[in-house]
Amino acid sequence: MQKQKEHQIISDIANVGQKMETEDFLNKIICGDAVEVMKKIPDGAVDLVVTSPPYNLKNSTGNGMTRGSKGKWANAALQNGYTHHDDCMPHEKYVKWQRDCLTEMMRIIPDDGAIFYNHKWRVQAGMLQDRQDIIQGFPVRQIIIWRRKGGFNFNPGYFLPTYEVIYLIAKPKFKLKSKANAHGDVWEFTQEMNNDHPAAFPVDLIDRIVGSTHAKTILDPFMGSGTTAISAINFKRDYIGIDVSPDYCKMAEERIKNHQAQSKLLS
Ligand SMILES: C[S@@+](CC[C@H](N)C(=O)[O-])C[C@H]1O[C@@H](n2cnc3c(N)ncnc32)[C@H](O)[C@@H]1O
Repeated sequence: MQKQKEHQIISDIANVGQKMETEDFLNKIICGDAVEVMKKIPDGAVDLVVTSPPYNLKNSTGNGMTRGSKGKWANAALQNGYTHHDDCMPHEKYVKWQRDCLTEMMRIIPDDGAIFYNHKWRVQAGMLQDRQDIIQGFPVRQIIIWRRKGGFNFNPGYFLPTYEVIYLIAKPKFKLKSKANAHGDVWEFTQEMNNDHPAAFPVDLIDRIVGSTHAKTILDPFMGSGTTAISAINFKRDYIGIDVSPDYCKMAEERIKNHQAQSKLLS
């Protein structure tokens, strides 16, 4: 059985030096900006990227996180943004940023690598905003529907949105593990309720992705509370995590250490 490497956190990537090897990143959380840190990762170093960026939800024409006449929806924790990112960029700037992120992700995956890029469609000024402007030109192979329980954005003009999308953006030689295709392309997982991070993935969702691939090294450039690392540990794969918030990096570090300790006890 592969021995899980000890976890480490690097809080200042600038001190690590300009030229970095893949080993320098493995099983570490790097506290910094996603694009800047990814620029230091060598070409083809990461087999799989699994990530959910900030959705820019606070830059919204209608503040969809309210319940109409009943005021704010108490559970919409994201209405406060993140600790070190306000989630309210001008739309064009946000699209450019996300395309820069995807460009770096494409550079650091090999010919059989893939990116699972989670996003949320929404209605803006009465029209569907389907994020085509972000993913245009990238090799999107499939859109997986992640059906959540319930939803937010109550609006009398359209049905309550209850799903998010996961773009499978794949290089030509990417293949799933044998029989993983039988999962189909509509996945039902309840959103994470037990996490202090306002937008954490449910672990089962990421286990579905990681367990469906042969990837040895998995990157999440918007790691948040560390869910992608937890899943990598579950499948004995290496991970690299990046987040701009020192608070979430600490949260992820604690969670990973606890999870590693529990996994050791059970093995
Ligand atoms: C949708 S959340 C990810 C949550 C994560 N999937 C989890 O399971 O906890 C997006 C994350 O992006 C981080 N973020 C925002 N701007 C960033 C940047 N420029 N570079 C890296 N991370 C950033 C936020 O701090 C937040 O934790």
